[in-house]
Amino acid sequence: MERGWKTIIEPFKVKVVEPLAFTTRDERERALRQAGWNLFQIPADKVLIDLLTDSGTSAMSADQWSGMMRGDESYAGARSFFRLEKAVRDLTGLRHVFPMHQGRAAERILFKATGGAGKVFLSNSHFDTTRANVEASGAEAIDLPVPEALAFGTPAPFKGDVDLRALEAKIRELGAAKVAMIILTVTNNSLGGQPVSLGNIRAAREISKHYKIPLFLDIARFAENSWFVKLREAGHATRTPAEIAKEMFSYCDGCWMSAKKDAFVNMGGFLALNDDALAKDCRDEMILGEGFPTYGGLAGRDLEALAIGLGEALDEHYLEYRIRSIAYLGDGLRKAGVPIVEPPGGHAIYIDARAMLPHIPADGYPAQALACELYLTAGVRGVEIGSLMFGKRGADGKPAPAKMELVRLAMPRRVYTQSHVDFLIEVLTDVAARAKTIRPLRLLEAPARLGHFTARLEPEPAA
Ligand code: F0G
Repeated sequence: MERGWKTIIEPFKVKVVEPLAFTTRDERERALRQAGWNLFQIPADKVLIDLLTDSGTSAMSADQWSGMMRGDESYAGARSFFRLEKAVRDLTGLRHVFPMHQGRAAERILFKATGGAGKVFLSNSHFDTTRANVEASGAEAIDLPVPEALAFGTPAPFKGDVDLRALEAKIRELGAAKVAMIILTVTNNSLGGQPVSLGNIRAAREISKHYKIPLFLDIARFAENSWFVKLREAGHATRTPAEIAKEMFSYCDGCWMSAKKDAFVNMGGFLALNDDALAKDCRDEMILGEGFPTYGGLAGRDLEALAIGLGEALDEHYLEYRIRSIAYLGDGLRKAGVPIVEPPGGHAIYIDARAMLPHIPADGYPAQALACELYLTAGVRGVEIGSLMFGKRGADGKPAPAKMELVRLAMPRRVYTQSHVDFLIEVLTDVAARAKTIRPLRLLEAPARLGHFTARLEPEPAA
């Protein structure tokens, strides 16, 4: 369509609908108490607008649904596998393609083959499952984001970049032999869904070559990243997102994808790489836990939907709407005086709970307290990315504060409309006006690893 219209519309029409679950304040209070003030423990039918995650929550297209019927369920060498293999090879240029049931399966298999005690992984930021799988292998995960990534209120175009100077300094300090790989997470989910520039990836590639350390990409949101490169990085405005993505992949030795994000599938992922010996190790490990190498942990129909979704993710009308719809929510919250990570990222708005609730210290879990207040107010479910998710426990068993206290409002793809977003802005405006009255939480119990999924908390009694 010719350019010039002000309104960017949802580039789809709706064929199937699902009712929303309305609840009363009483029902939500009861649900939250039963859940131990942990939103992961709330049944979805007690949630009105679910922004817990953009993972596996997308609406598939008519084409993907018809692909589900075409799916070939052969145990070995299914037609749907070859379709996926071709789609991934065409996009990434990588030779070995392994379907995985989701991103963390790829992480577990890849890090088991490359990690272990004494090894170190260096990244712009490891996502929580990525870090947990590195650590489960016995290795260490170190985050090296650019300093501006932590200046939440200050906009910059590529806050997802890895700090190149810190990266090289760390490699020299440790010795290259200790570094298992460099990982670039595109976009950087843990620090605001911020994009990584092509220039940064190219420069990280130079470092990786110089020190002979493999460079891997965690590409859950590679299409959104490509759109930001097109919009913000000099020299890319006239290129297609697919061309940009292909250049990005030309700089890596391998990648893995939680396809539950940009590829719109409700379940699925893959690992792709070039090194034959590493591919053999991964294949052997995969057969042990995931399945035969041509299906991974997936049904043939899932492979088919994934192959189709990879193409749809790069559609320009879709990406323009997608990134604009997140920015629209950001505009509304900014107007309401809600402090957010600036600029808005690709898949979510991140509210800076430390700035919004300065009366709650880190051990009162400000981001979790805010997320719970949003739920109580209107049945809106976001997720805490803060001391509950990342806080390490010290020797005294008490949590150490994390670098950030954020509430992520992640947008499922092609699911909610602009009026849902207008409603969210109204709810956040209401909560922001009485932010001072939100009470801290205290932790009752949490396991050591990925504790935020099952932790139990309760509000501190009023003073
Ligand atoms: N890498 C990134 C950047 C992710 O965001 C995720 C998942 C994974 C890896 C793991 O993939 O869930 O398919 O096993 N992120 C989800 C989220 C869970 O809510 O951000 P998975």
